[in-house]
Amino acid sequence: MIQKPRGTRDFLPDEMERRRHYEGVLRHVAETFGFREIATPIFEEAELFILRSGSNILNELYAFRDKGDREIALRPEMTAPAIRMFVNSMSNEPKPIKMFYFGQCFRYERPQSGRYREFYQFGAELIGNKNPESDAEIIALAASMIKALGLRDYRIRIGHIGVLRQKLADAGVPKEKTAEILQKLDKKLYDEAEPILIDLGVSDLARQEIFDLTGTVGGMEVLSNVPGEAGDYLRSVAEILGRMGVRDVDIDLGVVRGLDYYTGMVFEAEAPALGAEKQICGGGSYTLSELFGGEQVFSTGFAIGFDRILLAMEKEGIEYGLRGIDAYVVPASDAVRGEAYGIVSMLRDSGISSDMDLMGRKMAKAMKHASSVGAGKVIIVGEKELSERSVTVRDMSSGDQTLIRISELVRYLS
Ligand code: HAM
Repeated sequence: MIQKPRGTRDFLPDEMERRRHYEGVLRHVAETFGFREIATPIFEEAELFILRSGSNILNELYAFRDKGDREIALRPEMTAPAIRMFVNSMSNEPKPIKMFYFGQCFRYERPQSGRYREFYQFGAELIGNKNPESDAEIIALAASMIKALGLRDYRIRIGHIGVLRQKLADAGVPKEKTAEILQKLDKKLYDEAEPILIDLGVSDLARQEIFDLTGTVGGMEVLSNVPGEAGDYLRSVAEILGRMGVRDVDIDLGVVRGLDYYTGMVFEAEAPALGAEKQICGGGSYTLSELFGGEQVFSTGFAIGFDRILLAMEKEGIEYGLRGIDAYVVPASDAVRGEAYGIVSMLRDSGISSDMDLMGRKMAKAMKHASSVGAGKVIIVGEKELSERSVTVRDMSSGDQTLIRISELVRYLS
């Protein structure tokens, strides 16, 4: 038997229905914030991701040469494609541009629960400005989405990568080494960051200050300890979020992010129930357009790990009730099968989801099957009833049966 590739999943109909439902919830929230959906190719020129995503992403890139000898990569994320699309075709549109997307991404990671090689992101990008208003709008959207899904136990942590970058620069860390150290700090690998900093001649005091900074965590009150422009900036973001009623956020200057393109505010959301792979959302402000041949435009955005957030909801016991179908038509004998086809077509034409036995089952077995496909009502088409232009409608939850005229059936079921 051929199996699916490692780190990928099949979604069976029940799971797919649940996924589509929650995808719809997220889409609805994005639209209520004035964001509009986009779609970009699943593969891109590899260079798009090589330019600025950073070594984490590069090590995990699914890249190959196509038949035309072009270096191609499956997208590991959708921010770079969205900005490429903006530079190609939207750069003259009035700002801000508010876009969202949903689709699969690919990273060659070691698979485990909540970590896949093919996974889905629901993300949003706000292109146009570097100001607290834009960042607050993006954080508020992420918070509303998580809330709309019904997840209860999660934390949103907001930081500012500029503070840490400045601190590293002040401590004498050269620009080309910054990304490597940030990546260690992102994974809280202080033991690995320390010898690199020592090699670079960073003093004991400066190292301590760097580690202390990443440990600045707490409610909005810790912002009073954050100096300079970044502190003022985050205070403004916090103020707007307060006005918008977004309260489930903390400050954490240790939020570093695994991608290299962030320049200012950064944020993450995590669901502790997920254990090791608990990050359900990540984002922040960045600029990429100038790398792709456009003018420099500031943007801010995030992506929710759709698979992970669904896993977290499952762990919290949030149940999704399958829709089933409205009606299942059962001909009582082969003689009335033709009439039954007519009835099922009439229901479908009226938008009533309906199905009919295709396996030649006898009555009792057909009823059982109707129950297994989650039919709300069974329409029994019998010869005697047909002679009165009627059918018997059985309610599958109560077991009640009613004789209904065929001409009244659509209205009755609606
Ligand atoms: P990211 O943090 O790399 O950011 O990914 C966003 C989310 O995708 C993560 O928080 C996580 O929930 C989910 N995720 C990442 N890798 C996997 C995986 N292997 N399996 C399952 N879920 C995964 C970005 O991708 C940025 N583009 C976000 C962004 C948008 N920043 C600005 N705009």
